[in-house]
Amino acid sequence: METALNRSKFSWAEYFSDKKTGGHRYSTEEFLFKEAKEKLFHLNGGKSLLDFGCGAGELLIYYVPNYERVVGADFSNSMLFEAEKKMWQQNYKNVDLILADDETIWDKLNLSFDRITATEVIQYMTPEQIDAFIQHASNYLNEEGKIVLFDIIDPKLYSLWKFGWFSQNFRFWKTLPRVGMGCFKQISAILKNRPRDIIGDSHSPYLIEKIANKHGFKTEYVKSMYYEYRYHTILSKDIMRPLRICEALAEGSRPSYFTT
Ligand SMILES: C[S@@+](CC[C@H](N)C(=O)[O-])C[C@H]1O[C@@H](n2cnc3c(N)ncnc32)[C@H](O)[C@@H]1O
Repeated sequence: METALNRSKFSWAEYFSDKKTGGHRYSTEEFLFKEAKEKLFHLNGGKSLLDFGCGAGELLIYYVPNYERVVGADFSNSMLFEAEKKMWQQNYKNVDLILADDETIWDKLNLSFDRITATEVIQYMTPEQIDAFIQHASNYLNEEGKIVLFDIIDPKLYSLWKFGWFSQNFRFWKTLPRVGMGCFKQISAILKNRPRDIIGDSHSPYLIEKIANKHGFKTEYVKSMYYEYRYHTILSKDIMRPLRICEALAEGSRPSYFTT
């Protein structure tokens, strides 16, 4: 008999194995088009793109016409199947879809990219996975390339959002039942061996910045346009870094990059 103690470990790969949409706030074409437009603005050009965790291709479909070469990767077969259907319907020939996760993807790539992006994916990764992802991605980035991580969940903003802070009729007393319900859900999730929040984990902008700095990137923080509690991070190679390290060493101080 399955009990809380012997229940098999939860895995996101299993969770997504039969999913067919990315769970955007609205699944209308109009909304997805607007979301994609916001993302294309921040991607800001480039000729080749890797969309890691592309899911059902709901945004990818809008990226493809803007790039010469596109690779979409995801560890969910069902999601990739949906993405493939969309690409086929549009007769797009410049896109490859790869079944892979954050570890296996790198050996399956045969080109490097001007842009490497991931939308609503970082929340399913641990800080260690994010660190390894950025390190690997760095090796597959063309000169002046960028890694653009979209819609990361901000822990502070997400808590506020859950308690209704952003709603028009926010009243403090209304948050109390929500707090109670939140605690109940967390305990119940732990007992069911599920993640504390099915939306995944939040990661602070400082954590992402620290990891990015460690791998020689500087970061730009951008608020998400369509999700109150999410933010984007744009990572570009910090070309001034060696100079700053030399300056710091000359002054006899330890550059902050070394402290991670
Ligand atoms: C919320 S969906 C977003 C999909 C797509 N980026 C979009 O915005 O429509 C998250 C996707 O990331 C994929 N994913 C999560 N963790 C992954 C990992 N470690 N390796 C590969 N894919 C992953 C899931 O299978 C899922 O398709």
